[in-house]
Parts: sequence; structure tokens; C-alpha cells
Amino acid sequence: MSHNTFGHLFRVTTFGESHGPAIGCVVDGCPPGLSLTEADLQVYLDKRRPGQNRFTTQRQEPDVVRILSGVFEDDRTGGPVTTGTSIGLLIDNVDQRSKDYSEIRDAYRPGHADYPYDVKYGVRDYRGGGRSSARETAMRVAAGGVARKVTPGVTIRAALVQMGPHKIDRARWDWAEVDRNPFFCPDAEAAASWETYLDGVRKAGSSCGAMIEVVAEHVPVGWGAPIYGKLDAELASALMSINAVKGVEFGLGMAAADLSGEENADEMRLGNDGQPIFLSNNAGGILGGMSTGQPIVARFAVKPTSSILTPRLSVDRFGAETDIRTRGRHDPCVGIRAVPVGEAMVAIVLADAYLRHRGQVGESHVWPFARPPV
Ligand SMILES: Cc1cc2nc3c(=O)[nH]c(=O)nc-3n(C[C@H](O)[C@H](O)[C@H](O)COP(=O)(O)O)c2cc1C
Repeated sequence: MSHNTFGHLFRVTTFGESHGPAIGCVVDGCPPGLSLTEADLQVYLDKRRPGQNRFTTQRQEPDVVRILSGVFEDDRTGGPVTTGTSIGLLIDNVDQRSKDYSEIRDAYRPGHADYPYDVKYGVRDYRGGGRSSARETAMRVAAGGVARKVTPGVTIRAALVQMGPHKIDRARWDWAEVDRNPFFCPDAEAAASWETYLDGVRKAGSSCGAMIEVVAEHVPVGWGAPIYGKLDAELASALMSINAVKGVEFGLGMAAADLSGEENADEMRLGNDGQPIFLSNNAGGILGGMSTGQPIVARFAVKPTSSILTPRLSVDRFGAETDIRTRGRHDPCVGIRAVPVGEAMVAIVLADAYLRHRGQVGESHVWPFARPPV
């Protein structure tokens, strides 16, 4: 199978399956001299780790990452730093229960990747879905931790803004709240009501979808490129590549279609420092495929978990109709653990965009330009 690599100058290749001995990745193109420890990456993995509360899968994967290469600690200068060579990262798989999957050995879960995967490859690791298992996203989170080191001035944060049909109240948005509840929700009241809602979903043997918003701040003007290297196109590709993501939008996104040109365009004025300010951010921080200097705001919709206890109609690989219910330990709302994954994918795209921007134009132009003599 090909297409296990993502990115251009900052490039991530992942490998491994949920029921193999380990998963891993190789991060290529990371500049040398950046301080990097396993603890730097573990903080992000701990956010994605399963089994932390009753609202996510009860699989107990500690997801401890090891750095195998690409980092060197010189005892004269102190602290491990990247060497500029490929960084190898590995996480052991420790909690697999193959018997949980016996019912789906030959039958296809509606909504999951089983049917096209089987027809395409003719060989399918039914135990965890092979490469379609979201276990792979742990490596994206680890690689995202490296990417953040490449763009230290940039802040990337994400939050769950909708669970099932229940949206947050944006007037109550508090980033500090995101780390205080099990949903990465920025609205304390919404988080409290989601507990009851998700308990009901879980006890009914069902699942629900979610919406995640990722915000990248302090991205300088000009990252990304017009036409085929558009920053929004690359971010959309990155976010769509996450398991169970069915839609991505930036700024106003789909709602922009409802507006007039006057309502939609973000007007510009000069701030006190003589630099331009935008009076709104309907564009989500990207114009013409390039960052505007405003926060980049991306949202992605995650579908409900397809592995559910409720019996569903399906077919098996031998051409017979069958009913299927999926036992095992599945997330009732995979959107929750997709939050750190979304942050990581944005971090990887931005690190790549920064290195390519620097490669082509070096430092950005100083604005405003000098007026030519008349
Ligand atoms: C963090 C995360 C965890 C997931 N866990 C599960 C799970 O426990 N059970 C399941 O059926 N799907 C899970 N998924 C979704 C499937 O991996 C995904 O739906 C499947 O690979 C089919 O791909 P698609 O939905 O992108 O079309 C998870 C997704 C994410 C992002």
C-alpha cells in the first residue's frame, strides 16, 4: 500500500497497525538545532490517549513515545537537539483484544472502511481495521509535536464546538475551559450537559458525531502559495485525511454562500502601529491560498463512530446478507479524541508551509512598500 507519506519539505511517513507490535513514524526535513525531548511529544499524546474517562474507548494504551533517531545530546552544550536527519518515533501497542473482532471477521461494518478495503486489497486485518484504524493518528500527534518546534511563534489550539446536534454558546468561549473537561469543550455549561447526553448515547449502544474548531494564531503573512500550494487546500487535505472526517471549512466556510460581497469581505484599516488590521475574519485567515496574519480558523465535522452495538444490515465477504453488531471497545464519539489530531495536522501543514516559504522568498517583505518617486 502506498500513500503513507504526508508533506513536502517537512514530511511525515507513518507505519504500523493497531494489532501489530508497534506503530511509528519517520519525520524528515526537520531543521537541525531545535531542542527536542520525548516529554515534549508526550504532552500531546496524553491528550489523545484512550481510556482516560468513561466518554472514550476503554482500551488502555499508554502511548509512550520513544525517539529512536535524529536527536543528539552533546554534553558540552546540554539538552538534546535535532540533528537535521530523519527523526524516528515509535509507540508500542500494548492493549489488543483480537477476540473482540471475531464478529466482523468476514462481515462489513456499515460506515466503516471494511468493504472497500477488502475489495481493493483482498486482505484485511479485521482485528483493528489495519491501516484504516485510527490508532495511526497517534503518530500524527507525535509528529505534530515535532512540527510545533519548527514554528515556535505560532500557537495552535483546538476545541470541540458541537457534540451530536448540541452546539456550544460562543459567548461563553473560554480556552482555559478546554483542559478542564473530558471533551476539550471551551464552554463549561455545554460540557456539563454533554456528559448526560453522551452517557445516554453510550448506554443505548449508539454513537454521535462532532465538530472541531482549530485556531492557529501568530502565523505571519504570506505562508502558502497561490494555485496548487494553497494553504487552505493543504490544510483541508490534512484534516480530511483524519479518520471519520466528512467536512472541512475555513472562517465562515459554507455560510459565506449566503452573504453579499459587502457582508463577506473583511474590510481593512490601519492599526496604531501603522500595520493593517482586518475588521472581521470571515476568510478564516487565508486569502488567495496565503495566510493574512489573522488567526487561521478551520472547522471539521466528524461522523458518528460506525462500530456500534445496535444491529445493522450488512453483507459478508462471501456474498451473503447478514446483520452485524460491533462489540469491543469503541469511542461513542470519536470527535473527542480527534481534537489533538486536528491540532497536529495543522501544525504539520504550517511547519511545511513555513519551510517552503523560507525556501522561496526568505524573509517576508517589509510592509508598507516605499512609494516610488513621481
Ligand atoms: C481518534 C479516532 C478514534 C476512532 N476510533 C474509532 C473506533 O473506536 N471505532 C470505529 O468504528 N471508528 C473509529 N474511528 C473512525 C474510523 O477509523 C473511520 O471511520 C474508518 O477508518 C473509516 O474511515 P472514514 O470514516 O474516514 O471514511 C476513529 C477515528 C478517530 C479520529
